[in-house]
Amino acid sequence: MPTASLADRARRRCAWVPPGDAHPAPACVGFPGVAVTAEDSALERMRREFEEKHFVAWRGLIEPGLLDFLMKKVASQTFGPAATAENPDYVRVDGPVSLEINEAISVFFRDPKLYRVVRAITDAPPIETFGGRVIRLCPGKNHYIRWHCDKDTGPERAASLRLNLSPRPWRGGVIEFKRSLESPIHARQPADACGDVILFRSADGFHRNTKVAGSEPKITFSGWFYAQAPR
Ligand SMILES: [Fe+2]
Repeated sequence: MPTASLADRARRRCAWVPPGDAHPAPACVGFPGVAVTAEDSALERMRREFEEKHFVAWRGLIEPGLLDFLMKKVASQTFGPAATAENPDYVRVDGPVSLEINEAISVFFRDPKLYRVVRAITDAPPIETFGGRVIRLCPGKNHYIRWHCDKDTGPERAASLRLNLSPRPWRGGVIEFKRSLESPIHARQPADACGDVILFRSADGFHRNTKVAGSEPKITFSGWFYAQAPR
């Protein structure tokens, strides 16, 4: 099935449609595994954009049935302050009380076909595995993710991924990118649709989330492609 059709189905299932642009995802992640759907020329266009912006946005990466499954899993979670051990000092967020969901989502991204797509776009070194966690940024709770480079907390991180699992639109909570702490912000990605993905740099460059305003939380799954298994 063409990727655009999957993306359209995913959007119809979401409660809201975002502003902004996203590429049709170059692959489809579903219960049976990963299917690569993009031509080499599309990967090359994304590689150039990634080089310029330090990120690329995808729509339709997650097969609609799997997205439904993940959204229901997230909705069934009890959230609380994420354990200090999980959080470097630039992060203050909620997380699920049971960490089982993090592994339950991560397994769908552990596929050499997806690793090849990620490497084609990011020039990352060979990828060995993937792992991530669910994060909730709430308005009015002094939640933040301040400027940081993902490599500082995980030198083996080859590329970073953020999957939007928010059932409703939030305000604020924009992810912003800098080439160094001293340089100006060169790119930002505002709210996107549930199921949308941002793939961004781990090895260098800095990013942050602005504070979430309004009344709805921003719920995401943040994951990392590892060049070497975490120790
Ligand atoms: Fe990060």
